[in-house]
Amino acid sequence: VSSIQKYRPAYHYSPAEGWMNDPNGMVYFGGEYHLFYQYTTHGAKPDFANMHWGHAVSKDLLHWEELSVALKPDDNGAIFSGSVVVDQDNRTGFFNEEGSGLVAIYTNAGNKTIPGKDQVQSIAYSNDNGRTWSKYDGNPVLLPADTADFRDPKVFWYGPSSEWVMTLAVKDRVEFYKSPNLKEWSYASSFGAEVAGSHRGVYECPDLVQIPVDGDPSNTKWVLIVSVGDRNGINDSDPEPPAGGSGIMYFVGEFDGTTFIPDDQVTSEGDIRWVDHGSDCYAAVTWSNMTTETGNPLWLGWMSNWRYANLTPTVDWRGAMTIPRELALETRSGKETLVQRPARELGQLGAPVVSLKEVKASEAQSALSALQLDSYVIRAELDAKESLAFKVRTSADQETVVGYDSGLKELYVDRTRSGQVEFHEDFAARHTAAVAEPTDGKLDLLVYVDRSSVEVFASRGQAVITDLIFPEPSAKGLGLLTEKGDLKLHSLEIHALTSEVR
Ligand code: FRU
Repeated sequence: VSSIQKYRPAYHYSPAEGWMNDPNGMVYFGGEYHLFYQYTTHGAKPDFANMHWGHAVSKDLLHWEELSVALKPDDNGAIFSGSVVVDQDNRTGFFNEEGSGLVAIYTNAGNKTIPGKDQVQSIAYSNDNGRTWSKYDGNPVLLPADTADFRDPKVFWYGPSSEWVMTLAVKDRVEFYKSPNLKEWSYASSFGAEVAGSHRGVYECPDLVQIPVDGDPSNTKWVLIVSVGDRNGINDSDPEPPAGGSGIMYFVGEFDGTTFIPDDQVTSEGDIRWVDHGSDCYAAVTWSNMTTETGNPLWLGWMSNWRYANLTPTVDWRGAMTIPRELALETRSGKETLVQRPARELGQLGAPVVSLKEVKASEAQSALSALQLDSYVIRAELDAKESLAFKVRTSADQETVVGYDSGLKELYVDRTRSGQVEFHEDFAARHTAAVAEPTDGKLDLLVYVDRSSVEVFASRGQAVITDLIFPEPSAKGLGLLTEKGDLKLHSLEIHALTSEVR
């Protein structure tokens, strides 16, 4: 393995060279899933004064093609996070009558042209499927009143009032703005300053999505998603996300086109709900203009954490995205809960290398110990009364342990011996997520393993842990840990994910 390919994911998106953080501008258009992203072209460190939008497309959410850079810094500043919408009816006037095109809404950061307005919102348009972009000559289109943190516009079309709605991260809150044409914006409302215990860092990358409850399209809720930063901390006494550093919270409620009203009062830190209990899912946002066949949003996140993001041991590139995931809202233990499941496309892969039913742990263990794999998915159905763990990416002295503790009803990932861990003192850690009591006594587990990550989904996506790992390329073993050899797994399947991105 050449040094630039060491740790290169097989089926997660990563840029060939350079630095990548947040996903931006995700939109489905012309048969392609677009993924733009925060990108520094040279050197694998973030250069915030020189941030671009990189660009990749995929037809199947598994193979990604890297295209040339979409947006470069200009007189209004570097290009920070934002979104893309389809201007179906040419409301902007940017497009000719026959066609509709794409409009990007992004933050210019480090703006010097307007004194005291460091972060402003600007727009650009494309009529060639996002390959080339023209910046609007009336930029910027939205200026801050006073605060320095004013960024990450995520825009969606709100049908009932025929206008676009923007969620914007403004220091300790999300502000909502509205526009008929993406050029003129008016303030609508704000949410978050009042939420106790949620202000360890500034709010970043908000997103507001409407999701059916338990799959019923006639009963929907609005879910407000907010990333909380690790840099630029604003209240050190507020709690950290479950695995420390940067994390993502969510609020379930109602939205009337102007105001977001949470269903539950959020008056203490215990009321805060986290999307992922691992360390490495941040700044996730949804594809702006589509739902899956089941009416649910699709999203992905940046698979890292600002705490150590620019120290991870890759060479000449840094940063990968999570797998694309479907978001659903399901009643669990009487509460509407945000669950995440791998996008359906990722479940339609080649033949399994292991497929066992009602198998004894000792037999499963011998099947696993015969394998040498570095990118694959484990699907297992366990007896929820028993504890069990898989070891992945193992060698004589390396292993990542993914398990379920039935006594604590807890999912965990232990990456303390996962390979390179010394680059930051917080990296070697064990992360846990509470698992809601399964109703039928069975616990389903999905473990997506790649060259430098594990993503674990338990109980149909209710408990999720996303963690980076940096094992040696030769650490390809698998194993099983149980207290009893005669314990039975209801099922165990392993699919190799061989699809190379490059
Ligand atoms: C989140 C973030 C955004 C900002 C971008 C800069 O990770 O800090 O708030 O727009 O990264 O790259």
